[in-house]
Amino acid sequence: MARIELRGIHKRYADGFHAVKDLNLDIPDGEFMIFVGPSGCGKSTALRMIAGLEGISEGELLLDGEVVNELEPKDRDISMVFQSYALYPHMTVRQNLAFPLRIAGRPKDEIETRVNEAAAVLQLSDHLDRKPANLSGGQRQRVAMGRAIVRSPRAFLMDEPLSNLDAKLRVQTRTELARLQRRLGTTTVYVTHDQTEAMTLGDRVAVLNAGELQQVGTPRDLYAHPRNIFVAGFIGSPAMNFIAAELQGGEIRTARGDLPVNDWWRERLTGASPNQSVILGIRPEGFSDAALEEGTGPEFDVEIEVVESMGSDLFAYFSPESTGARSQSLDDLAQQSGLGDATASRPGEQLVARLDPMSRVAVGQHARLRIDTSHIALFDPETGLSLADHESTAPTLTSA
Ligand SMILES: Nc1ncnc2c1ncn2[C@@H]1O[C@H](COP(=O)(O)OP(=O)(O)O)[C@@H](O)[C@H]1O
Ligand SMILES: [Mg+2]
Repeated sequence: MARIELRGIHKRYADGFHAVKDLNLDIPDGEFMIFVGPSGCGKSTALRMIAGLEGISEGELLLDGEVVNELEPKDRDISMVFQSYALYPHMTVRQNLAFPLRIAGRPKDEIETRVNEAAAVLQLSDHLDRKPANLSGGQRQRVAMGRAIVRSPRAFLMDEPLSNLDAKLRVQTRTELARLQRRLGTTTVYVTHDQTEAMTLGDRVAVLNAGELQQVGTPRDLYAHPRNIFVAGFIGSPAMNFIAAELQGGEIRTARGDLPVNDWWRERLTGASPNQSVILGIRPEGFSDAALEEGTGPEFDVEIEVVESMGSDLFAYFSPESTGARSQSLDDLAQQSGLGDATASRPGEQLVARLDPMSRVAVGQHARLRIDTSHIALFDPETGLSLADHESTAPTLTSA
């Protein structure tokens, strides 16, 4: 069991590339912490520094209060699970599971007990005498996890361990993994580029971009109160809609219509200037079809361009009137997260509403969409920061 603290950690590779910048994180004992961010943002580098597989250029890494920067990986008592789970093909599942304990010179009966326990936890008891080649992908991944847990290490580090599994198995294994971590209560740091995985697995999620920590918080925090446009656009699927707007006398003016500033925001907008340009963020679920039920609240009249009926949800796409929201942060977001590719348009150029499947909105027709103003976000177009956070600079959680 271990508390892991990262204090001002930097990684500069030999070629000068600054892959991790001033990372500050306090991971309490037993926490399931997720590192999420686009490919190349420094997740694996950060994880490998915790494991000791990569040197720390600057800063301090502490395990249970003790600085371990110079400690060899084997002396850190941490287990790592990788995307490619290299099992020994000539060994049975039992021998694969026993291997780390044999290397550590544990007595035979202890090895047997621990292997049987790990196999039971991972539902591998019936497969102990089989070879990896005869197992399914999911079973093989469980053997790889088993090899990590037999040692009862102080912490688990996992680098995209589910990426090689097909979609259905990934979801299933994800659920098993969450249950396993809770049962063992071992501090776990888990790396993924998949925001859905991050949001469903973790106690807390650290969002990284270009080597910098953007925000750390519970999945709920990140979703409800993103500190900047990057987090807002990266977390949530489909992504948050971004609309160019202006603050004017207690109203948010957009080309599609005006919204009142709600109480939560009014308290936090004390530093905003009159007629300030803003980027308004509305989650797809912040819209509803006004034709379906009576209600109050501002409405946008839009022309529906695409409808996707998913059974439980209906996604309706429409364009923001005139130009989309413009901001350097939005351009970065599109580039870094690949969102631009995924949606075939830059964030801000096409908007999407998640509607009740009973909705009768149709392509080419007008619809009135009601907006739940309790779920909006406001950002500074210059800095990309949430206007609720305009005093704070570095969005990091430092330990005392
Ligand atoms: N040995 C290395 N030398 C130089 N640059 C590296 C090295 N390893 C990784 N990088 C760079 O550091 C950045 C972060 O890499 P990585 O931590 O693997 O990203 P992620 O796991 O988030 O996809 C990338 O731009 C990558 O190209
Ligand atoms: Mg990686």
